[in-house]
Amino acid sequence: MRIILVGPPGAGKGSQAKRLHERFGIPHISTGDMFRKALREKTPMGLVAKTYMDSGALVPDDVVIGLVEERLSADDCANGYMLDGYPRTVAQADALEALLKKWGHKLDHVINISSRDEVVVQRLTGRRTCLNCGATYHTMYNPPKVDQVCDVCGEEVVQREDDSESTVLNRLDVYKKQTEPLLNYYRERGLLRNINGEQSIDSVYMDVCRLLEG
Ligand code: AP5
Ligand code: MG
Ligand code: ZN
Repeated sequence: MRIILVGPPGAGKGSQAKRLHERFGIPHISTGDMFRKALREKTPMGLVAKTYMDSGALVPDDVVIGLVEERLSADDCANGYMLDGYPRTVAQADALEALLKKWGHKLDHVINISSRDEVVVQRLTGRRTCLNCGATYHTMYNPPKVDQVCDVCGEEVVQREDDSESTVLNRLDVYKKQTEPLLNYYRERGLLRNINGEQSIDSVYMDVCRLLEG
């Protein structure tokens, strides 16, 4: 099963991917998570990525494309994977298509989790993220059991630097200009599946599972 999760920032791609990983066991590949991990480890790539992420801009295509090619070459991706936040530009989609062709692989679904701007702004400004394991919470919709403490690993839960309102608005703008064209790209290839991301986390999850098992 090779799946792409696409949708605006805050649509719930990461929340759904974590659950789908538990259910289907396929690797969850989030380029955003990879950059944040690289930044925690202070690698050169992480430090470069930060200069783009802080303003909500996209990291340059050549950096992301190389990173994903390396990740998809790993053994655990042989039987499938879930891409979250990649591809995000037509150049990235073309690079992925070329890679799949080289390996004789096919995508199964591109799942578009959609949500209006006002909904995602509320979700992102209330999101809290674990610095250690990346688990995400929401102050209202999905709070940790103990205030500011991660349920999974017990570390501190904080606001992501790019979740301030002004940066969120910029990320939405970037999404519309650079990523939304991919919806047509995959519609033309007969791969696009639409899910209403404004439902509860459980309802979105049920819709995605129905789609994957149907
Ligand atoms: P990335 O980390 O991918 O961020 P994003 O796409 O902006 O998406 P988010 O992670 O913010 O949202 P999500 O859809 O995962 O929502 P979540 O499930 O957490 O990218 C960050 C940056 O890295 C980019 O800006 C860019 O600079 C760089 N980057 C990454 N990939 C790149 C690429 N391919 N090319 C170039 N640059 C790249 O949910 C959000 C909140 O809402 C949570 O609090 C959650 O609990 C809550 N929530 C989720 N679903 C629901 C629901 N159904 N109802 C109520 N609350 C919900
Ligand atoms: Mg995410
Ligand atoms: Zn944690």
